[in-house]
Amino acid sequence: MPGIVVVGAQWGDEGKGKATDQLGDRVDYTVRYSGGNNAGHTLVVNGEKYALHLLPSGILSPNSTPVIANGVVIDLDVLFEEIDGLEARGVDTSKLLVSANAHIIASYHKVMDKVTERFLGNRCIGTTGRGIGPAYSDKINRLGIRVQDLFDASILTQKVEAALEQKNHLLVKVYNRRAIEPAEVAEELLAHVERLRPMVTDVVRVLNDALDADQVVLFEGAQAHHLDVDHGTYPYVTSSNPIAAGACTGAGVGPTRIDRTIGIMKAYTTRVGEGPFPTELLDADGDKLRTDGAEFGTTTGRNRRCGWFDALVVEAAVTANAFTDLFLTKLDILTGWEKIPVCVAYEVNGVRTDVLPMTQTDFHHAVPVYEYLDGWTEDISGCRTFEEFPAATRAYVRRLEELVGCRISGIGVGPSREQVVMLHDLL
Ligand code: GDP
Ligand code: IMO
Ligand code: MG
Repeated sequence: MPGIVVVGAQWGDEGKGKATDQLGDRVDYTVRYSGGNNAGHTLVVNGEKYALHLLPSGILSPNSTPVIANGVVIDLDVLFEEIDGLEARGVDTSKLLVSANAHIIASYHKVMDKVTERFLGNRCIGTTGRGIGPAYSDKINRLGIRVQDLFDASILTQKVEAALEQKNHLLVKVYNRRAIEPAEVAEELLAHVERLRPMVTDVVRVLNDALDADQVVLFEGAQAHHLDVDHGTYPYVTSSNPIAAGACTGAGVGPTRIDRTIGIMKAYTTRVGEGPFPTELLDADGDKLRTDGAEFGTTTGRNRRCGWFDALVVEAAVTANAFTDLFLTKLDILTGWEKIPVCVAYEVNGVRTDVLPMTQTDFHHAVPVYEYLDGWTEDISGCRTFEEFPAATRAYVRRLEELVGCRISGIGVGPSREQVVMLHDLL
């Protein structure tokens, strides 16, 4: 009954899409359980590049059924744009299942996201502007619109009216914007209902039945541990629970259903948006990592902030997600450095710590302590076994395992599906 969760171990963009895709045809269901189209998962399959925002990466594996579960927030315009884009390229999306309990991102959530960020000024979060935070706020405030609400036009209108009542006061009186007309929003949403209806199902039942039947269900995380609203660098986080446990609430499977939790970590660190990042490089080295790694956002096109591998950041994720395996990505990007610094501790106000500081203040004051590992110059993108790696590359991998306390089972050496070195099977 393998239930497998894939989770980003840093601040996102670790290569979760590519790692998920590795399991490909051996997976019966690929499930998105949190976040929305703030995600951007890029996959390169047979030389073709695909950027997925809302659909799970399993959509590219013909034998896998893609699922959007209850924990996801759905922008219906984006959903159908993404489906149409894939269909135009010959990808079959007809098996997609959508939970009746997933929440909807309406146009007013996107408006609220943008105006609140602007209002925050230099205290802004640097969100993707996709309406994610406002949609989850409405869910928690019990003012959300769910997929199933689209099936009852009069209920939908009432719910949109309730959701907009307070927001319109804010928009007009605080943010100096025009009020949003509930009937217009309801109409926009209802325009999608007939296309959506056949996809909507009781996802909890489907997934639990599949697990009972010993099928493989892969829960594909979006965002990452350190963007988790409970466990990340709050308030510089997203508004959902991307951690492994989020798969249980976000898809309706019990914790005993999860057999493996796989953390995806980049061989260095990146972050998009605001928030603490102790190993960030604001110099030419950071620029080199960004250029070599093509670290520009898939979703917003923003430059990703780049820095060295931070073992404390990943160790915290290993602990709270109980990772059974790690998948190391972008090791090829580190080729060519004479020495590669790895952060093994912080100094906080002159005191050394080997684990993440407990408080936000200390995290903001953390100064990285580096260990300098030997680099390598050989091109490793063609390696397919661990033994083919130069000795320094192998030593880098082994040192990371030691520092974060979890085995590395797969290693990415390039963006393509086949550019991978496996040490342990992920199934
Ligand atoms: P995700 O959000 O975690 O799925 O990651 P993104 O897709 O946003 O960013 C990862 C980027 O790195 C994508 O452009 C991938 O194609 C690329 N990528 C993934 N794994 C590797 C790898 O091992 N080597 C290289 N060079 N690129 C990779
Ligand atoms: P994937 O799945 C990297 C960041 C945003 C911002 C913060 C809150 O591709 O790894 P939000 O729009 O979610 O309210 O923004 O979270 N963020 C991501 N950063 N990768 C992502 O997804 C992200 N999703 C959200 O940049 O700092
Ligand atoms: Mg991404």
